[in-house]
Amino acid sequence: MTRHLYLHLPFCAHRCGYCDFVTVVGRSGQHAAYVDALLTELSLERKLLAPQLETVFLGGGTPTFTEPRALERLLSTLPGADEVTVEANPETVTRELACTLRRLGVNRVSLGVQSFRPYLLEVLERVAQPGTVRRAYYHLRDAGFDNISFDLIYGIPGQSPADLAADLGDALELAPEHLSCYELEAKPGTRFTHAHGPELARQAEAMESYFELVVEALTGNGYRWYETANFCREGDRDLRSRHNLAYWLGRDYLGLGIGAVSTIEGNRWRNTPRLPAYIAELAAGRRPARELEPLPVDVQKREQVMLGLRLDEPLHVEGLGEVLDASALERLDRLGLVDRKGRTLTLTPRGRMLGGGVTADLLA
Ligand SMILES: C[S@@+](CC[C@H](N)C(=O)[O-])C[C@H]1O[C@@H](n2cnc3c(N)ncnc32)[C@H](O)[C@@H]1O
Ligand code: SF4
Repeated sequence: MTRHLYLHLPFCAHRCGYCDFVTVVGRSGQHAAYVDALLTELSLERKLLAPQLETVFLGGGTPTFTEPRALERLLSTLPGADEVTVEANPETVTRELACTLRRLGVNRVSLGVQSFRPYLLEVLERVAQPGTVRRAYYHLRDAGFDNISFDLIYGIPGQSPADLAADLGDALELAPEHLSCYELEAKPGTRFTHAHGPELARQAEAMESYFELVVEALTGNGYRWYETANFCREGDRDLRSRHNLAYWLGRDYLGLGIGAVSTIEGNRWRNTPRLPAYIAELAAGRRPARELEPLPVDVQKREQVMLGLRLDEPLHVEGLGEVLDASALERLDRLGLVDRKGRTLTLTPRGRMLGGGVTADLLA
């Protein structure tokens, strides 16, 4: 039975230039109808879910931009779970919203910080200023949240290593339980890439050294580097994102909403990204249009290796032999990039720095 549920809330106040997620700007008049559609889709798929869920994740878009009554209705109707995360943009987090989320069972908030440098926030076309981020953070703390994650982006046009170090320092000062640090990905052909082309190329050259800086700063300050781009505070509690761990460990998950992906019992499907079609189908009590992706066993095994090696915990390789290249494994072992112990495999810190390249080499 599936124990992990994702819900996509696509609405945003504004579209940031670099963003490639399924988003819809404004449309406050449609938020309630969209939540109705989500709840109908949930009831159509309820039998796929276990009676007790481990994680629920509301991602976006900007879930906290959703019209408050619609968001409250959604949260109060959803099945409970051990970990309930909501993604939030700092400018949407008022004292009232923080208390509402807490009252309705949310116990983890992922805050889209991106940077604390005003000029870099401007390049990213972000609404929030550094002060907005800090205010949002304290509203969440005051409301009782003891599991807050920050998203940071690096490789932003105009960013220097000193800027990145300062961003990490500002984040560390607030001591969130968890941090996700992403390389900026700019899609070719977008307005953003067009506007920042040469500078993006310069940033791409610096990416490896930025990554090293991130890992050094965070591991040097008591954070566990538990996944390529994810860090959590060490201590008595396991503060890894349980929802994302489920993806990396190849567990089944159900995704609801436009553009949402589900993977259950070797089948994967993606809902239509079109809002009007999604709302109309579900208003008529029918499942939305879906794209099915075949997942042959070897593809599942490759995914298991690619995702599993992003983690700091050993990957169990029983049954994965046919997708691993034995001679590449020997070579990478000699080069000190992989660590083999019994029937498990882990990338060494150096191997993790090189990440995708090492994994690609390993896959037969
Ligand atoms: C679903 S997104 C958006 C969450 C939220 N709406 C926000 O903007 O803060 C989750 C995270 O993905 C990251 N992200 C989005 N676009 C990215 C890009 N082009 N390259 C790297 N990271 C990106 C950001 O750090 C963002 O907080
Ligand atoms: S607010 Fe977040 S989801 Fe919305 S456009 Fe900006 S980055 Fe994308």
